[in-house]
Formats: sequence, structure tokens, C-alpha cells
Amino acid sequence: MFSRMFARRRLRALAARYEVPAFSAVAARLLDELQSEEVDLRRVTALVAADPGLSVRVLAMANTPCFGFRKKIDDLPRAVALLGTATLEGLVLGAMVGPALPKGARKALDLYAFWQVSAVRALLARELSRVLAPTLGSRLFTAGLLLDLGMPILADHRPEDYARILAESRAGRGTIAELEREVFGFDHAEVGAWAAVAWGLPDTLAEAVQAHHAAEEAELPAPLVAVSDIGPHREPPEDLESEAERAARITGVPADIVASFFERAAEQADALAAALA
Ligand SMILES: [Fe+2]
Repeated sequence: MFSRMFARRRLRALAARYEVPAFSAVAARLLDELQSEEVDLRRVTALVAADPGLSVRVLAMANTPCFGFRKKIDDLPRAVALLGTATLEGLVLGAMVGPALPKGARKALDLYAFWQVSAVRALLARELSRVLAPTLGSRLFTAGLLLDLGMPILADHRPEDYARILAESRAGRGTIAELEREVFGFDHAEVGAWAAVAWGLPDTLAEAVQAHHAAEEAELPAPLVAVSDIGPHREPPEDLESEAERAARITGVPADIVASFFERAAEQADALAAALA
């Protein structure tokens, strides 16, 4: 799948100019540990603790209402024990990728709004998974959170062009991905997948990022298909109504239940976005 992507000459040209910021050595080891067959939670705790910035962000995310703990979690061993490996992996990936995305993107893209909509998507994917595929919930939460990670990379690369793309898309002249392909020759799904591979993120995540605008054809899990078109260009929560109808149609989950998931996700998204932006 990725050989085709890397064959793209213009994407290679971007890759040559844009250096993916390196994760800290600790974070890279943590990623390895979380993806190993037998995860050692004590080792995970020690690795998160060894990177103070990472531990602060993981704790900040763990304490958002999204995870439903009534008491404040103020130490890492407790966070690791309460959250479990799969959820922790999602938080660690978010806490690693969030700060690694280029801040120059702010010239064209409101990064808080970007994370807010990404959080809505993540929370919805998790809620829908609880009904449809409980074992996938944490993985789809992470995918929902990071599907659009190519957008800030492109926005940082050519901010003026990117601001124009966003404005034109809002004016109804095409989807963001269509306009990106016109201007750059590739879109944020390809760039995001390239960055995910370069960072060594899990293959399933890179594949979901690459396929997210053709999620149905790519046979991504239904909860992810249902949220894959919710993008940072939307103006939440008004546009979420039509998205809720679409999600109900795709998943077969009754529309009123999906609507309640959307409402809750929209309520919880701010706190998660604040921890990531
Ligand atoms: Fe997208």
C-alpha cells in the first residue's frame, strides 16, 4: 500500500523539505513497548515518567471527563492501572503527535478547532465501537483523533495556499482533500500516512489515515467509516446533525442513540482539545 504512496514524486519532494520532528528517545521506546505482544505496565509507567512533558499531557488527558473518573488521577501508576494498555496507547500517541505537529500551521489553521473536531471524531468512534465492536474501542479512538494529522503539516508547509484551500472549501468549491490535490498534487490523507510511517506509528493507524476519505471502500471498521468525514473544516456543532444521520445510516445504530453520542462527544471534546492543542 505504501510503496504506491512513496512513488509519488511530489509527495517525495515535500518529504525532502519537511522533516518529521523526532519523538524523544523515551517516547520511541514507549511506542515499541506499547505495541509489543506482552506489554509490561510497570515498564510503561517508568517510560512515561521519564519524559516529564509526556507525563503531564497523559495525566491531563486522563483527567478529562472523557474517561469518566470521578476522582482526580494525580499520579502515573494509578493512571496506567485505571486506563489499561489500549487506552493508554491512544493517549500516549495523542500526547506524542499533538506537540510534534508544526505550530506554523496556526497561520492557516485554528489548531484548537482542529483538535476539538478531532476529539469529537475520536469520542464518537469510541462510543459507536462500544455498541458495534467493543474490543476495537481504544484503537478507533486513537485513529479518530489522528485521522487528519496531515492537515497541519500541509498548512505549515504553504500557509497562504492552505488558508485559501480552507476558505474555498467553506465556500462550497470542493472538499478540502479535492482542493489539496489541485494545489499540491496530493492530499492530507497521503501526507498524514507518510508522517505516520515516518514516525513509526502502528501500521493499522497509518492505513486508516491513508484511507479515511475512502473509508467505506477501504473497509475500515464501521465506527471509523461513520466518523471519517467529520473534518476540522466543519463548524461544530451545527453541521454535526447531518453527520449523525450519516453515522446512523452507516452503522445501523438507531439515529436517536447516535444523536445522543454526538451530543456527549461535543460536550467532552473541549477538554480533550485543550489537553492537545
Ligand atoms: Fe480528512
